[in-house]
Amino acid sequence: MTATAHTRWIRQDRVEYPVVVGEGVLDELCSYLASAPPRGAGLVPAPEVPHVLFTDTTVNALYGDRVEALLRACGLEVFRVVVPAGEASKSLATYEWAVGEMLQGGAGRKSVLFALGGGVVGDLGGFVAATYMRGIAFVQLPTTILAHDSAVGGKVGIDHPLAKNALGVFAFPRAVLYDTALLRTLPPREVRSGLAEVVKHAFLEGEEYVSFLEAEAEKIMALDPGALAEALLRGIAVKADVVSRDPYETLGIREVLNLGHTVGHALETLGGYRSLLHGEAVALGLAVESRIAERLGILAHGVRMRLEALLARFGFDLRWPEGEAYDPASVVRVMLRDKKNVRKKIRFVFLTDLGKTEFRELASEESEAHLRAVLREGA
Ligand SMILES: NC(=O)c1ccc[n+]([C@@H]2O[C@H](COP(=O)([O-])OP(=O)(O)OC[C@H]3O[C@@H](n4cnc5c(N)ncnc54)[C@H](O)[C@@H]3O)[C@@H](O)[C@H]2O)c1
Ligand SMILES: [Zn+2]
Repeated sequence: MTATAHTRWIRQDRVEYPVVVGEGVLDELCSYLASAPPRGAGLVPAPEVPHVLFTDTTVNALYGDRVEALLRACGLEVFRVVVPAGEASKSLATYEWAVGEMLQGGAGRKSVLFALGGGVVGDLGGFVAATYMRGIAFVQLPTTILAHDSAVGGKVGIDHPLAKNALGVFAFPRAVLYDTALLRTLPPREVRSGLAEVVKHAFLEGEEYVSFLEAEAEKIMALDPGALAEALLRGIAVKADVVSRDPYETLGIREVLNLGHTVGHALETLGGYRSLLHGEAVALGLAVESRIAERLGILAHGVRMRLEALLARFGFDLRWPEGEAYDPASVVRVMLRDKKNVRKKIRFVFLTDLGKTEFRELASEESEAHLRAVLREGA
């Protein structure tokens, strides 16, 4: 095992799976898969059926051959399913195509799907695995900063043109093997985008994690292995704690992870899943929702400023996107389709302090008025 790897077991419902984070984790893929817990996941994929390396075009070009060779070195037969890079692949059309590839490649119920990529590959590949022949095992091999979030917790699914993540299920991976050495090829825009969920996790956690990010922002952006691993491990710890207590988002605990996402998801949808990256939309959502919280009198100005200052330091553009598509009335129309809503009101999770949140349901007119006011201030 690599000296720098950290393993954290996540318990959700009756399932437990390891999340292994560190430099060079993939080089010991077989060992992490097959060794008995707690050292490994105790998953020995059947040698007699083909297994699936599910990835996107960009990641395939960078790491496809290497990871396929590593899987073959475990004695596994493997074929690849490669989808176009980008959020637009979280679609019914790509899902249908991918299932066709799985069938043609001869994947069976004993096949294991290895999702190598960012949140798009993890969500889509996980959804393919969770539904293929009523469900096959899958392993997350995250390759983006954002995926410290998406690979953990078991939410998998795809988008609909009308609403983000409209189709999906809860399905838990058998293991998450997160090799941080792979993050070095990320373009700067993707590094930044991934840091939005890190900031979200920090404000959900509280002072210690927030001040750590404030102190180490430059190192983290430069992908300094120590600072980056700590930022990611702390984020995974926040997510793990929440999803363990509320595996299926039925207890009103897991919803806190939607901080910044009510507005963020609407912006992503209105941009046709092409204009704003997920993290960019979430960063803006975090800023706008915290301004609404301040307007509601439930968040202190100083905490809101600290949140925006940290996002700005990570390089996020917190200005509202140009274009008629992002008119507040349209944002409200899309937010009304959010899965959290009840009684035709929009359900927000607002930050009220470091480490503290509160749910509020706002009528659509009220939400629109707040958005217009925030825009006038120049968010
Ligand atoms: N399931 C969940 O709980 C959850 C949580 C948060 C976000 N998400 C979802 O995650 C998605 C966003 O994930 P993302 O930001 O990772 O996007 P992504 O998967 O599209 O990856 C971003 C881009 O980086 C490229 N890339 C990936 N790894 C690379 C590497 N190591 N080097 C170079 N390029 C690389 C990809 O090809 C892609 O173009 C959204 O769809 C969002 O809804 C899901
Ligand atoms: Zn998110």
